[in-house]
Amino acid sequence: MMRLLRNTVFSLLVGTGLAYPGSDDRQAPVKHPRAAGYSPKEPPLTTPWTDKVGTDPWPEYPRPQLQRAQWQNLNGIWQYQNASSLAAVQNPPFGQDLAQEVLIPSCLESGLSGIQGSYMLYSWFSTSFEVPSDWNGQSILLNFGAVDYEATVFVNGKKAGFHRGGYFRFSLDVTRFLKAGQENEFGIWQSVWIEPVPTNHVSQLDIDGNMDGQLNMTVHTSAANTTSSALVVVKDGDNIVATHRGPTNRPFQFKVDSPSLWSPDSPKLYNITVKLGEDKVQSYTGFRTIAKGTVDGVVRPLLNGEFIFMFGTLDQGFWPDGIYTPPTKEAMVYDLEMLKRLGFNMVRKHIKVENDLFYRACDELGLLVIQDMPAMRPLQSKALPNCGSETLLPDEAQQAEFTRQLEVLINQHKSFPSIATWIIYNEGWGQITSYYPEFELTDLVRQLDPTRLIDSTTGWYDHGAGDFSDNHHYSDPQCGTPFYSTASSPYDDTRIGFQGEFGGIGNNVSIEHLWNDQAAINTINQTYELDLSLEAWNYRSHVLLSELQNQIRLYSCSGGVWTQTTDVEGEVNGLMTYDRRLSRVDEDQWKSDIQSLYDAAAARTNKTMAAS
Ligand SMILES: *[C@@H]1O[C@H](CO)[C@@H](O)[C@H](O)[C@H]1NC(C)=O
Ligand SMILES: *[C@@H]1O[C@H](CO)[C@@H](O)[C@H](O)[C@H]1NC(C)=O
Ligand SMILES: *[C@@H]1O[C@H](CO)[C@@H](O)[C@H](O)[C@H]1NC(C)=O
Ligand SMILES: *[C@@H]1O[C@H](CO)[C@@H](O)[C@H](O)[C@H]1NC(C)=O
Ligand SMILES: *[C@@H]1O[C@H](CO)[C@@H](O)[C@H](O)[C@H]1NC(C)=O
Ligand SMILES: *[C@@H]1O[C@H](CO)[C@@H](O)[C@H](O)[C@H]1NC(C)=O
Ligand SMILES: *[C@@H]1O[C@H](CO)[C@@H](O)[C@H](O)[C@H]1NC(C)=O
Repeated sequence: MMRLLRNTVFSLLVGTGLAYPGSDDRQAPVKHPRAAGYSPKEPPLTTPWTDKVGTDPWPEYPRPQLQRAQWQNLNGIWQYQNASSLAAVQNPPFGQDLAQEVLIPSCLESGLSGIQGSYMLYSWFSTSFEVPSDWNGQSILLNFGAVDYEATVFVNGKKAGFHRGGYFRFSLDVTRFLKAGQENEFGIWQSVWIEPVPTNHVSQLDIDGNMDGQLNMTVHTSAANTTSSALVVVKDGDNIVATHRGPTNRPFQFKVDSPSLWSPDSPKLYNITVKLGEDKVQSYTGFRTIAKGTVDGVVRPLLNGEFIFMFGTLDQGFWPDGIYTPPTKEAMVYDLEMLKRLGFNMVRKHIKVENDLFYRACDELGLLVIQDMPAMRPLQSKALPNCGSETLLPDEAQQAEFTRQLEVLINQHKSFPSIATWIIYNEGWGQITSYYPEFELTDLVRQLDPTRLIDSTTGWYDHGAGDFSDNHHYSDPQCGTPFYSTASSPYDDTRIGFQGEFGGIGNNVSIEHLWNDQAAINTINQTYELDLSLEAWNYRSHVLLSELQNQIRLYSCSGGVWTQTTDVEGEVNGLMTYDRRLSRVDEDQWKSDIQSLYDAAAARTNKTMAAS
């Protein structure tokens, strides 16, 4: 292992896009002119946070469940160049300035990136960094929150790693590439950082705390097939509530006596410290149990043994200034706080996986999360010569990759206490129907994480897999009801009756709150309903929420997802506009309507109590 010298500057080059097909360690000779300086581009719409991003974005430690005291953020201004051809992709631009500057993290389509491009298949990003002198003698991990879709990482002109999957974090031990006196070179919509670790260090923590105070943990280490031991300390504020020594790389259990349970009403968290040799990491958990059970003859989702009516929004997580990357943490949490204030107890993270601080915020605020697996693709079809059409579905290799990434999703996120349910397929997107892969995928998810519920198919092709009988019905709900539309399946009373999407009622706004793009504006009329005033929109919201309430009272509705948190480009059906500057909701009315849903659900439970 290489010893690091003091304050040596290293360079990092990252190729992103689809698979990097070139050879590994080529040194390219060409020198480019100096990069053009970074400045954000004016997006078609801004938010109150656009001007607050600056050039040191996302300063927070990005991985709250495995946090180290020493780290260095590499976010900021990097160099960028479009790899315009396959030839360019095969020749990494080592040791040269790239053509432009870019803000990391950002997506290249966003104004905040400074690029605001489109159709960029392959890109190069580079930066240089210094390793602090007091990290001497330790291994250096280079961590990426997420890079879409594939990343090839070079450090000092040597290939240090490759990663596929646009939503997942990865870490590379780059110690051996960091040579004194040489440049170190390496896309990228989440934070990038380095940290020093001992050779054998904690690589992942799996933590599940249940309503009986039992903790089930696995301390994964970089030396994956050795077994050593790790010391775990659980704290409530400054008070140690449990200490336990457990083996590494396999599950162990211990108990905390009568913990305060986690719930949306009382989102209590406990800090956890794990020590493995010289490595020390901070984490946390909450104690709660999510299950399915029959209450008064109806199959229900249970939190800590009781029926919980889960009510949330469809949350796509798009921003006009940052697109996939929220401009700041404050902006990201603003959306969640608005939901919480109105009384939602859940959020459905739709077809996107957020950065870890999003889930941490849900854990802290008390918002259950229903997490979608990002679909391989929306439904696509190709025209056939006979004027028919054929739905394009994944081939075997694509299905295998989808399955692999589903596993990564579960394994990387299963320790967030707020996550209550996994969704595998949305509205048939990428869902093979010649056989029903959702059954084996449901088994897989169950095996990876037996502590959550599984909504195998939200909307459309439901063949009976998973814990939910879930349809999508715009605008008005049909949740666990004995009536249904011919496009969806009848309610199946062996599973939880759920309204995976409804609402979606729109209200057009003036141009200063719209994504100012004519193509998007032209799609505004392609919606279920447009209401001409906010009064009309709130009246219609009240009607739809009242219908849902009746379905809780009369039938078997156990939860619902209102479309949606905010407008997104040509979709003008948010609780807020895309810029978050205008809220459509009559807050008093919404709070009261949402509370009525919980009251209706509680009344059903009370009936049980009385009967039993
Ligand atoms: C960027 O590169 C892609 C190929 O990766 C190419 O299709 C596109 O035209 C390039 N764009 C620009 C602005 O050069
Ligand atoms: C502990 O978690 C592992 C998965 O990480 C699971 O296989 C095992 O069944 C759990 N054990 C208990 C006692 O909950
Ligand atoms: C670790 O285990 C894997 C298989 O589980 C084996 O292939 C490998 O040789 C082992 N490595 C060491 C260092 O023992
Ligand atoms: C966990 O630790 C952090 C900082 O070390 C502290 O801010 C936070 O309040 C602690 N949380 C709990 C639940 O003790
Ligand atoms: C929505 O409003 C914009 C201006 O703010 C206007 O250009 C557009 O035609 C409107 N669309 C509909 C369907 O009302
Ligand atoms: C929606 O608006 C676009 C542009 O304003 C127009 O071309 C289209 O015909 C409209 N569609 C409907 C269904 O009204
Ligand atoms: C349910 O029962 C509890 C305790 O008896 C009571 O306080 C509560 O008001 C009841 N809720 C409803 C909605 O009837």
